[in-house]
Amino acid sequence: MSRKGFHWNEELTVGLINKCLFPAAGYGTRFLPATKAMPKEMLPLVTKPLIQYGVEEALAAGITGMAIVTGRGKRAIEDHFDISADLEAILEQRGDIEHLRAVRAVADMVHLVTIRQKEQLGLGHAVLMAQDAVGHEPFAVMLPDDLIFGTTPALAELMGAYVATQASVVGVMRVAPTETHRYGIVDPDTTLPTSDEGRTIPLRGVVEKPDAAHAPSDLAVVGRYILGPKIFERLEQTPHGLNGEIQLTDAIHTLAQEQPVVARHFSGTRYDVGSPEGWLRANLHVALDHLPVFC
Ligand code: UTP
Repeated sequence: MSRKGFHWNEELTVGLINKCLFPAAGYGTRFLPATKAMPKEMLPLVTKPLIQYGVEEALAAGITGMAIVTGRGKRAIEDHFDISADLEAILEQRGDIEHLRAVRAVADMVHLVTIRQKEQLGLGHAVLMAQDAVGHEPFAVMLPDDLIFGTTPALAELMGAYVATQASVVGVMRVAPTETHRYGIVDPDTTLPTSDEGRTIPLRGVVEKPDAAHAPSDLAVVGRYILGPKIFERLEQTPHGLNGEIQLTDAIHTLAQEQPVVARHFSGTRYDVGSPEGWLRANLHVALDHLPVFC
């Protein structure tokens, strides 16, 4: 089966992931007032905006088709990945080759498809808006405000689990009992064997934000998914919850009732860069990596 001609086979045919979806239409309220006129995804980590880290991770995982779900005030994201002829001309004139290369590399990095989410009705709704752009194929979803640093791109680890199991995959990390109420917590199916030294775990479902006493595990879903197109049907049937939002977690839970869904416990360290504290910590992580350059 050619990469180009691949179509998702519900009967679990091995295939590759061609598209990564970046839901980026949220208001970013935790970062106000910085995000009043600037997309959260353009906040810098040292010298690169958050969204660029996500795109680079997807490219490193072998995905070349990128689709971003945006909303009002998010044009800077598209401009970032576009050619800036004026800026390039000035840098060339000045002989600033290092910055010229950096600017050109971003423009050459990727061809973006953008999808407009007119009303911010939640992550699940943002994914649903991308149905036509994704088509009838399995696809990756990456939340640009969950950065994961490690030796292997987290998305590549999820793709490995997808290829091995042919199931939809959610990225998970361990959290303390005091933290379960902030995440979707996976419910492992203990009647089925795990693989990848316990890191790929078959699921019964996902419980949204349980307290410690009701959490079915200590594994929280964060920012990386490989989903089959059946998810769109589940999203369409998911009722709007608090603030009219459609939760992706609810749709994944329903999907797990009819198709295999596994969790992949990724090996890297995750930073919630949508919060000022997580963003500061991630800046330190990246800055320390680059320290010889700044000294
Ligand atoms: P968050 O829960 O972080 O929401 O969304 P937010 O609006 O971005 O930030 P806060 O919580 O108000 O500070 C998780 C991801 O889902 C996207 C966001 O852009 C983010 O990448 N999202 C959320 C959408 O694309 N559309 C939505 O309606 C909601």
